[in-house]
Amino acid sequence: MALSLSTDQEKKIDEIVGRYPTKRAACIPVLHVCQAQAGWVTADVIAWVAQRLGMATSEVQGVVTFYTMYHQAPVKKHVLWVCRTLSCDLRGGKAIQEHVEKRFGCHTGHDSTNGVWSLKKAECLAGCGYGPMVQIDDRFFENLTPAALDAVIDAYEKGTPPPQAETAFTKNPAPPKPSAPPPAAPAAPTPSTPPSAPQAS
Ligand code: FES
Repeated sequence: MALSLSTDQEKKIDEIVGRYPTKRAACIPVLHVCQAQAGWVTADVIAWVAQRLGMATSEVQGVVTFYTMYHQAPVKKHVLWVCRTLSCDLRGGKAIQEHVEKRFGCHTGHDSTNGVWSLKKAECLAGCGYGPMVQIDDRFFENLTPAALDAVIDAYEKGTPPPQAETAFTKNPAPPKPSAPPPAAPAAPTPSTPPSAPQAS
């Protein structure tokens, strides 16, 4: 089915394209808008983006297949990515993946039995100091335990997705201002000249 965008989405794409020196430079954000509309990057999306940006369909296809953030097949309402790269794995990434697989009743790369989730494995999600972490749609959740992730998933399933936790991806509070420097230590006394030794007679 041909891609159909709303007037607002068309305007958004015009605005995005206007930010770049060439139309093709807008390929990544334009694909995001189209994926949000279509649910995944269909052949029609690729053809539409190629035509809109003056690119070959093979070039757009190359972008889509390079970046894992584009879905090349239909996905469920929410997509949960578990980071399984080294830093997260050292902090329990494997246990998080196994926990989610058990809860969803599916292996990674498949959809949950309740039909709400697509479960995927991610390479580094760029929050290595905050692992283990997952990405759910466009939000990141870090320093997870199975119980903490359950609470996040519960909230999504109730239709009240929690805000992204404070991490590298959000603005951290300003660091405290340094306090006044301590007073300078008193100067060390200059050693006096030792008395000269008595002369031998
Ligand atoms: S290894 Fe998981 S965020 Fe980098």
